[in-house]
Amino acid sequence: MIIKILAIGDIVGKIGRRALVALLPDIKKEYDVDLVIANAENIAHGKGFSYETLKEVSDVGVDVFTTGNHMNKKPEGVTVMDTKQMTVIRPYNWAEPGVSVPGEGFVMTEVGGVRIAVVNVIGQAFFKEKYANPFHGFDRALAEIGDDIKVIIVDMHAEATSEKVAFGWYADGRASCVFGTHTHVPTADARILLQGTGYVSDLGMTGDYNGVIGVSREEAVAQFLTNLSSNYTLKEEGTAQMNAVVASIDTETGKCIAIERVDRVIEVHS
Ligand SMILES: [Fe+2]
Ligand SMILES: [Fe+2]
Repeated sequence: MIIKILAIGDIVGKIGRRALVALLPDIKKEYDVDLVIANAENIAHGKGFSYETLKEVSDVGVDVFTTGNHMNKKPEGVTVMDTKQMTVIRPYNWAEPGVSVPGEGFVMTEVGGVRIAVVNVIGQAFFKEKYANPFHGFDRALAEIGDDIKVIIVDMHAEATSEKVAFGWYADGRASCVFGTHTHVPTADARILLQGTGYVSDLGMTGDYNGVIGVSREEAVAQFLTNLSSNYTLKEEGTAQMNAVVASIDTETGKCIAIERVDRVIEVHS
């Protein structure tokens, strides 16, 4: 069986949620999507997530939420994740093995009787936090998931493209698909690696098209000019982008047989 997975880049704030609500139902039909995964670390006004903000987009078809370095920004969101009120995971390698952290680093889901593992890992380069090694974390996640699971999807949340490309090769043949998140800028390198892993360095984001990675362009430019830290504001309506990829996976082999970008720009209003 061939299943199609849509992976959506970081949803940023209300304008991002509104864009996804407007776009997702038609995209699911157009691409015949079986499973939708979206990164939600910025879904609640740019930092963290809440039950209500996740529900807004799960209601239109997002099945699994991944996160990243902003996982812990809203305590209420951490509780939602930890108590499994929504299917939302955090980076598997958030802390060293044996250290207790809320939530799970992977989740099992199912499409047409086929079991699918969705794994979240986070890179180490350029983060001030000291996360555990994502490569070793991935190995430990695979050992927990077990050999009988063929379809394994990984969100590699990282700043450095080099770390993501290296991780893609490390996972090649062992993951069905590795998609990068975090930079909020889509990359043009969606491809299938040599051992059959679908790969893209960064999905991009779902949010303000005319801002700076999701926040006000005026405030972001001012920060670069003045170094005076400011509280960034996010738009609620206007022109929005949605960046994603759709990957086709052969469930017998777990290998990716096609991957393509799905990028949209639309106007959203309240
Ligand atoms: Fe993000
Ligand atoms: Fe991030």
